[in-house]
Amino acid sequence: MKGKKIVIGITGGIAAYKTAYLVREFIKAGAEVKVLMTQAAKEFITPLTMATLSKNPVLTDFFNPENGDWNSHVDLGLWADAMVIAPATANTLAKMNYGIADNLLLTSYLSAKCPVFFAPAMDLDMYQHPATQKNINDLIARGHICIDADSGELASGLIGKGRMAEPLQIFNTVKDYFYKNQSLKGKKVLITAGPTYESIDPVRFIGNYSSGKMGYALAEECKNRGAEVTIVSGPVSISKPEGVRVIDVKSAAEMLELCLQYFPETDITIMNAAVADYTPAYAADKKIKRTKDDMFIELKPTKDIAAELGKIKKNGQMLIGFALETDDEEKNAAGKLIKKNLDFIVLNSLQDKGAGFGHDTNKISILFKDNNIKKFELKTKQEVAKDILNEIELIAQK
Ligand code: CTP
Repeated sequence: MKGKKIVIGITGGIAAYKTAYLVREFIKAGAEVKVLMTQAAKEFITPLTMATLSKNPVLTDFFNPENGDWNSHVDLGLWADAMVIAPATANTLAKMNYGIADNLLLTSYLSAKCPVFFAPAMDLDMYQHPATQKNINDLIARGHICIDADSGELASGLIGKGRMAEPLQIFNTVKDYFYKNQSLKGKKVLITAGPTYESIDPVRFIGNYSSGKMGYALAEECKNRGAEVTIVSGPVSISKPEGVRVIDVKSAAEMLELCLQYFPETDITIMNAAVADYTPAYAADKKIKRTKDDMFIELKPTKDIAAELGKIKKNGQMLIGFALETDDEEKNAAGKLIKKNLDFIVLNSLQDKGAGFGHDTNKISILFKDNNIKKFELKTKQEVAKDILNEIELIAQK
C-alpha cells in the first residue's frame, strides 16, 4: 500500500471506534490516509484520535467557522486512490445512493474518481429493511465494493447481522483490490509523449500541436497497473504524474538517444510522441535577422525512432506505435505497422471529431499484425489508455 492515498469516511455509528484500528492498518502498510467525519461520527470518536492516527487533520465541515478557511468539497475525492466509508450507516448509504450532498463526506464521495469501498454497520432491522438492502445493492451495481456486515451481538443488545466487518478484513479487501489490479507488476514500460521542437535559431523552432495528454494518460494507467514507467517527453505543459520517471527532451535527436538508452531493458514501449520528421540542417547560433529576401530553411530527415527500436526489438519485448492520419487512414497505418516492426498500431483519424491533438478525448482503432482491426468509441484519453493497455495485456498472455 506504499504511497497509496486513502480517504476514510466515518459516519455516525458505534462501530466508529473500530475505524481507529483500520486507519492504523493503512498507516502501518505505508498508505497516506486522510479522514473525513460526519458531525454524527464525532459523537462516537474524536477527530483528535483520528487526526493523530492518520497523521493528517480530520475534515468535517465545508469551512472553518472561526477563520473562514474553506475545505474544497471535491478535492479529497479527486486526491484519493481509494475511498473507504466505514462505518457506513443506513442514512449515509441512502444519501450515497441518491446523490444527496449535504456534508463534506458526501460531496467528496460524489466527486471521487477512485474505487469506493463501504462497510455497512447498523442495527439488524435497519440492515434488513428493503430500503437499506436496495441501497446496498444499488451501490454494488454502481461498481462499489461492499465489505458486508457480520452477524453477532449488536450495540442494541440484539443478536443478528449488522455489525461492521473487522478492520483487518476491510483493510485486506482494499489491499487485495490493488494487488489484483497490479497486472503489470515487475514490467518496465517506456513511453514517448508530446511534440519535438527542432531549433531554427536560439528563439525559433519547428514543432507541432501535440499536447502529450494521451502519452501521460498511458503512463498513469501503466503506473496504476504496477509497472515501472519512464516517459521520454517532448516539451509539454502537463504536470508530471507522481511515481513516474519523466525525462524531458526537446528534439527528435535527443528523444532517439534516450529511447536507445532505455529500450534494451524495457518490456513494453509505446511510441506516442509526435516526432518531427525533418529538422533544420543547421541551427543558427544567433537570432536570424529579418531581411527583404525570401527565406529558405534547409531541412534534413530525422531518424524514425520507432523503426530504429523495431530493428533491435528482441523476443518478449513489445513495441506499440501510433499513427495520426488525415486520409487513407487504415492503409497508411497498416504500412507503418509493418515498416516499424510494431506489435500493433493505434490509429487516430483527424477526420473524427474530438480525436487527436489537444483534445481530452480520443477515438481510436487498433490495427493488429494479423490484419484484424478493432474500433473504439470516442472516450476520454484515460479510458482510451485503459483500452490500449487491455490489448497489450491480451497479447502478452498469448
Ligand atoms: N515516430 C517516431 N520517430 C519519428 C516519426 C515517427 O518514433 N521520427 C513514431 C511515432 O511516435 C508514431 C509512429 O512512429 O508511433 C508513426 O508516426 P507518424 O508521424 O504517424 O508516421 P511517420 O512514420 O512519421 O509517417 P508520416 O509522418 O509520413 O505519416
